[in-house]
Amino acid sequence: MRIHHVGIAVDDLESAIELYGVAFGAQLAHRATNEKDGLTAAFLRAGDAEVELLQPLREDTPVGKFLAKRGPGLHHIAVAVPDIEKAIADARARGLEMIDEEPRIGLHGTRIAFVHPKSVGGVLTEFVET
Ligand code: CO
Repeated sequence: MRIHHVGIAVDDLESAIELYGVAFGAQLAHRATNEKDGLTAAFLRAGDAEVELLQPLREDTPVGKFLAKRGPGLHHIAVAVPDIEKAIADARARGLEMIDEEPRIGLHGTRIAFVHPKSVGGVLTEFVET
């Protein structure tokens, strides 16, 4: 298992980027916005992995609803997988419920799929094809 990134929901992306810089010396790697999912994100280098800071663009979005319900904090972890179709098939064969039954393109421009948190001890988990 390799952690690809950790996703953290924030209210204010710019101040979160600054906080991670001041607190941990974290460097901004890249940024991405997904209008359809209504979120904008910044990726900070963290060794072989990244921290993905997520700010919703609207309240009626998955991350917007998450923030309203639970406040800022850990949103998901992402696991690197070499073959996302196999990862989805293996997860289903093990009885895990997928949120995404089919891969879709994530903020890194690579294929992703989310596993339902109720199947992973309450932790929203993302497969990222690498
Ligand atoms: Co992610």
